[in-house]
Amino acid sequence: MEPLIDGHGRLIDDLRVSVTDRCNFRCQYCMPAEGLPWLEREEILRFEEIERLVALFVRLGVRDVRLTGGEPLVRREFPKLAGMLAAIDGLEDLSLTTNGYLLERDADAIVAAGVNRVNVSIDSLQRDRFYEQTRRDALPQVLAGLHAIARHPEISPIKVNAVALRGFTEMEALPFAEFARSESFQVRFIEFMPLDADRAWSEDQVLTGEELRAIIHELHPLEEKPREAHSTARVYRFADGAGEIGFVNPVSEPFCADCNRVRLTADGKLRTCLFSVNETDLRAPLRDGATDGELEQVIREAVWRKELKHHVGEKGFRQPPRSMSAIGG
Ligand code: 5AD
Ligand code: SF4
Repeated sequence: MEPLIDGHGRLIDDLRVSVTDRCNFRCQYCMPAEGLPWLEREEILRFEEIERLVALFVRLGVRDVRLTGGEPLVRREFPKLAGMLAAIDGLEDLSLTTNGYLLERDADAIVAAGVNRVNVSIDSLQRDRFYEQTRRDALPQVLAGLHAIARHPEISPIKVNAVALRGFTEMEALPFAEFARSESFQVRFIEFMPLDADRAWSEDQVLTGEELRAIIHELHPLEEKPREAHSTARVYRFADGAGEIGFVNPVSEPFCADCNRVRLTADGKLRTCLFSVNETDLRAPLRDGATDGELEQVIREAVWRKELKHHVGEKGFRQPPRSMSAIGG
């Protein structure tokens, strides 16, 4: 089978699948306090539909699949879906991005299903500041989830992702550095992107990875590790050997040239960039009885038109109609 390539010569072998647009948190940089109008039940792909599309992508060369939301664990019977996908022949890596709130409940089932890597989003290690950012007083529950998943050595690595916001995350840099040094989690800071439902993003609210790195380096000298292919993060190890910390810098240092990803939304739209303003509907042909060959053609054509790069920070940049929770992180 011919590999999936885009019109700029990039090989696409990484798929992000959003399994629901719903979420039990209301992070400031993602959702409004009152939530968003959710998709109707029949708009959302059923497990069998997700399985068929993922299997097709895997036949086209996708090796890594990451399950996202909204919050993926609020989808009923999520571990069952994970198990269906883990069983797809040719899939090498099945990972999960979660806010961790339901992870204590689901950790065992997720591991049994065959998920092999987990990212947990935590913006502050201080309860009141966590609440301020997520609008949920849930830090203890999230940490319980993180530790529940850490009891499974098959899950590796476990990453903790913090969105970096100016005026907030400066104070989190050192506590997270200590956390990364004392626990076996990889901490990564992610620059705030214009994907917030409130459309309040501005460039001056972005705390860059370089600024955070400098704060940490002053107290705990850091050494950069060689960059892995398609890695979105710059990863540093602490010079004294204790742990590592990463910086995902999509705004200050875009990594589009090396991008190998596409995304499937919960309602079956193929997005070839986080910032796409056009999507390709896979659900309609799927439900209209398209053959695998016909679906393949639709996918190949959409991937061929994958955006060269995002234009965040440039004049004329348009924020996509969907916000992060409806795209999938
Ligand atoms: N900018 C950067 N990261 C974001 N996330 C959600 N919204 C944004 C945004 N506007 C992150 C979440 C989670 C991942 C799915 O995406 O915190 O770690
Ligand atoms: Fe939910 Fe993730 Fe958005 Fe927070 S960032 S509201 S956890 S989808």
